[in-house]
Amino acid sequence: MRLLFFAGSARDDALNKKLARLGRHIAEANGIEAVFADLADYHMPIYHGDLEAAKGPPERALAFAALLAEYDGVFIATPEYNASIPALLKNTLDWVSRVRGHGLRGSEVFKTRPFAISGASPGYYGAMRSLLALRQILAVGLGATVIPQQMALPRATNAFEEDGSLKDEAQQKLFASVIEALAVAAKRFNAS
Ligand SMILES: Cc1cc2nc3c(=O)[nH]c(=O)nc-3n(C[C@H](O)[C@H](O)[C@H](O)COP(=O)(O)O)c2cc1C
Repeated sequence: MRLLFFAGSARDDALNKKLARLGRHIAEANGIEAVFADLADYHMPIYHGDLEAAKGPPERALAFAALLAEYDGVFIATPEYNASIPALLKNTLDWVSRVRGHGLRGSEVFKTRPFAISGASPGYYGAMRSLLALRQILAVGLGATVIPQQMALPRATNAFEEDGSLKDEAQQKLFASVIEALAVAAKRFNAS
């Protein structure tokens, strides 16, 4: 069983990359094969219908759809931008949903594996509004199973230890339970 972790942030020092990397670390510590993917390596132009009509989805969208398809479960850590998800993450999901061909159907990729979501923000609400938006996009828009367990990490600028774990023991435990729930859901999906 293999899990993929990524964040809706491109910047090097992103809080949400830290959260996604911590998720991967927790999975690995529990004997689960886990990989972190960086959206900075999957640059795509903003979705444009004429561009799609002329050339189809960009190569990076095909590559990211293929990557998602390799894993039994997917974790996304999302920042909050103006009470919703960042354009980077929405654009990535939009392009992937348009992939067809090369043995891949982007829309199917979302329906055939479970997702877990969490978010980190320097503010008090810990990206909670972004999580609501992302849950709607994945579950309602893309037909994905999104597990109910999630973590909204507030005051995230000071939340991480040097080693990448969370300073607050209760938050670390809560986050570990999110990753465990994703692993359980992925196993169930695999078996069915
Ligand atoms: C355009 C923009 C809008 C933002 N809006 C919000 C917001 O609505 N709520 C919030 O908690 N933080 C907001 N922030 C601050 C982000 O949470 C902060 O930049 C965070 O570090 C981004 O995530 P990252 O560290 O993973 O890149 C916003 C930042 C930007 C650049």
